[in-house]
This record gives sequence, C-alpha cells and structure tokens, in this order.
Amino acid sequence: MDERKKKISIEGVKKRFLSHDGKEVIALNGVNLGIYENEFVCVVGPSGCGKTTLLNIIAGLEHASEGKVLINGNPIVGPGNDRGVVFQQYALFPWLTVKKNVEFGLAYKYIKETDPSTGEARYRKLTKAEKAEISEKYLRMVDLQDFSDSYPKELSGGMKQRVAIARGYAMNPEVLLMDEPFGALDAQTRAQLQEDLLKTWDTEKKTCFFITHDVEEAVLLASRVVIMSARPGRVKEIIDVDLPYPRNQATKLMPRFNEYKNAIWENVYQEYLEVKR
Ligand SMILES: Nc1ncnc2c1ncn2[C@@H]1O[C@H](COP(=O)(O)OP(=O)(O)OP(=O)(O)O)[C@@H](O)[C@H]1O
Ligand SMILES: [Mg+2]
Repeated sequence: MDERKKKISIEGVKKRFLSHDGKEVIALNGVNLGIYENEFVCVVGPSGCGKTTLLNIIAGLEHASEGKVLINGNPIVGPGNDRGVVFQQYALFPWLTVKKNVEFGLAYKYIKETDPSTGEARYRKLTKAEKAEISEKYLRMVDLQDFSDSYPKELSGGMKQRVAIARGYAMNPEVLLMDEPFGALDAQTRAQLQEDLLKTWDTEKKTCFFITHDVEEAVLLASRVVIMSARPGRVKEIIDVDLPYPRNQATKLMPRFNEYKNAIWENVYQEYLEVKR
C-alpha cells in the first residue's frame, strides 16, 4: 500500500467530444491515475492523445463524460483557487498590461488570518500593495520586470508565455497544472525556467502536473513520468524517476538520466508510430 496522500484521483475517466460534423471523438478512454501530494508528475504522449483534455478536466474547465475526478477527496465541479493553470497557448488579456495580467486572478484570492480580538479565523482579500509585491516577484523570476507596464501585443511569443507562467505562479496554488509551458521558448530561457520551477516546487511544496513533449524535460523535472497511449488516450505506463532532488541542469550528466531518457523515448516513440499508421 502506498502511504502517500493522494491529492488528485482520476478513476475510469472517459471523455467524448462531438466534432463539427457530428462525429464522436473519444479523447480519453478509461484513464486511471493518482497524483500524490507534493509530487511532480510529467505527462508525455503523442499529439492528440488527450493530454490537454485531461488537464482541463483536472482544472475543472471540462467535465469527464464518465468516471470520477477528485481533489483532496472531493469531486471536481469547476475551477478553483487550489489549482493554477498555465495554458498551452498563453491566453493573456490583450487589454491589460503585463502586471495586470499577472495580478488578474489575485482579485479572487482570499487569505486566511486570525482576528486579533476574537482569535477566530477570518478571510480577507489581498491589498493592492500585496498584489503588486506578488506580481513583481514572479515577473522578476521570468525576467520581465522591465515590461510590467507593457501590453501583450508589445511582447514576443516567448515573452507572452513567460507572463502566463508568472500568472500561474502568482496564484500560489496547491496544484500547478502546466500544459507545455516551456515549449515555445529558446533553450537558455527554458533551462532557466526549469530550474526556477524546480525551486518553486521544492520551497513552496506544490503538486505539479506538467505536460511536455520533451522527454528530457520530463526526466529532469518529474518524480513520475506518465506515458499516454495514442488516441483514445489511456495511461500506457508510469515510470518512477529515481534521481535525487534538488535537480538542476547538471542532473542531465548523470548516466542514469540518459537511461531513463532513452527508455521513455523508446516507449513514447512506439505511440508516435501508432499515430502515423
Ligand atoms: N472541444 C473539442 N471538440 C472536439 N474535439 C476536441 C475538442 N478538444 C479536443 N478534441 C479532440 O480530442 C483529442 C485530444 O485533444 P487534446 O487537445 O487533449 O490532445 P493533446 O494530447 O493535448 O495534443 P497536443 O500534444 O497536440 O497538444 C483530439 O483528437 C482533439 O481533436
Ligand atoms: Mg495539448
């Protein structure tokens, strides 16, 4: 028996879509997966196998056609402050500045504090100064502190993606759901953001669900790599990545790193061939 606490539980999840011409597309067909508290799960699998669909279901943005999805033992019925999402396409508000984009979700965030006179717990919204402090911190992390008053259209694709990442972190959610967040970035920026993410995960004790098509990235970040099969998506295999944390770019030099990378790549490649057929 695994003694770790399950943060998210996905049981028998099936997802059907109706396409524009009325045909049924089965995106997920019986996905079972438990995600433990503070664990870093990476999901890999061929394009169209249902990775984003699964993330959207955990985010509460889509509903499963069949099956159960639980967070902390409760059914997921919609989006919540306990989960922060970095989307595959950055989804920024064009009419808001970079800073306001990062602070957007914070308007819905409440912090718990103790009433000094009664000793009871109470909730309050963040102050303007607190919001500004948070957005500054994370814009600095993604190296965009000098662009906080710019509008998204003034930024490159990679910069917009970094704003979306800062926005996801700023919510300080228990669960970070990230959909190929570093895919569109240059190699140096990606390496830097991978290390920042590993640090954030380590110090802020988050549960991460991270989709990537980059097997090397998956092995660097994940404590477990979930390999999905070609559509309709299922969990094909789960690989425990038994490399010590804290990890950084030097971890890639460990011989076992390459063993994991090759084994996972081989496995995923079989599914790519399946799609081609
Ligand atoms: N809203 C929708 N309506 C109809 N079909 C959809 C919808 N969303 C997703 N699909 C279909 O579900 C399947 C899975 O899509 P999904 O976006 O989850 O794949 P993915 O694994 O994230 O792919 P990629 O790696 O390319 O991002 C695809 O066949 C897609 O066409
Ligand atoms: Mg996707």
